[in-house]
Amino acid sequence: MASGTTTWRAATEAALYGPSGFYLRPEGPAGHFRTSVHASPLFAGAVAELLRRVDEALGHPAELAFTDVGAGRGELLTAVLARTAPELGARLRPYAVERAERPSGLDERVTWLGELPEGVDGLLFANEWLDNVPVDVAETDAEGIARQVLVQQDGEELLGEPVTGAEADWLARWWPLDGAPPGSRAEIGLPRDAAWARAVGSLRSG
Ligand SMILES: C[S@@+](CC[C@H](N)C(=O)[O-])C[C@H]1O[C@@H](n2cnc3c(N)ncnc32)[C@H](O)[C@@H]1O
Repeated sequence: MASGTTTWRAATEAALYGPSGFYLRPEGPAGHFRTSVHASPLFAGAVAELLRRVDEALGHPAELAFTDVGAGRGELLTAVLARTAPELGARLRPYAVERAERPSGLDERVTWLGELPEGVDGLLFANEWLDNVPVDVAETDAEGIARQVLVQQDGEELLGEPVTGAEADWLARWWPLDGAPPGSRAEIGLPRDAAWARAVGSLRSG
């Protein structure tokens, strides 16, 4: 790979989470766009009901985790806490898992983590998280071969080596490019699969 050229995944990682990365800026995602979390209090109401049902299904454990992965600035956790009955609230362990710093003024009941908690019982939740886990991108060349898309320092893109190994296997299974016209693209979702598996693995039950 030529110097100053990088993979799509590394370029996205730098743009979103590097120095002055988009998601690490003080204003947070909500300073730029709305998600369901911000659009209506009905969303937090529905999640609070889901939490109540998970608690019931788990037999009202002494500690019930509510893990929000990619928690933004803790907006959903804050809104769900406000809608949780006192009895459940006393047993609730709210975790924000975020790459950004803990915002000032957040409810002190919320534990702010850079990594998932281990072996908890409860509700694992994520809203608009996985699409923010950087991945590589493949594009078919003039012969229909899927190649890595590379990014130069000035943002120009070029095609690199053919996609091989586990990444090729992933494409063949989930986003096949065989027979696709030249210039067709696919995201290679392996890092998202791994992130999801890690998240699910954080639960002992739930
Ligand atoms: C589109 S925002 C969604 C924020 C919030 N969940 C919402 O719906 O408003 C995605 C968030 O996921 C966070 N994020 C991305 N990858 C993460 C990771 N591996 N661990 C923790 N947080 C992550 C980003 O920092 C960002 O705040």
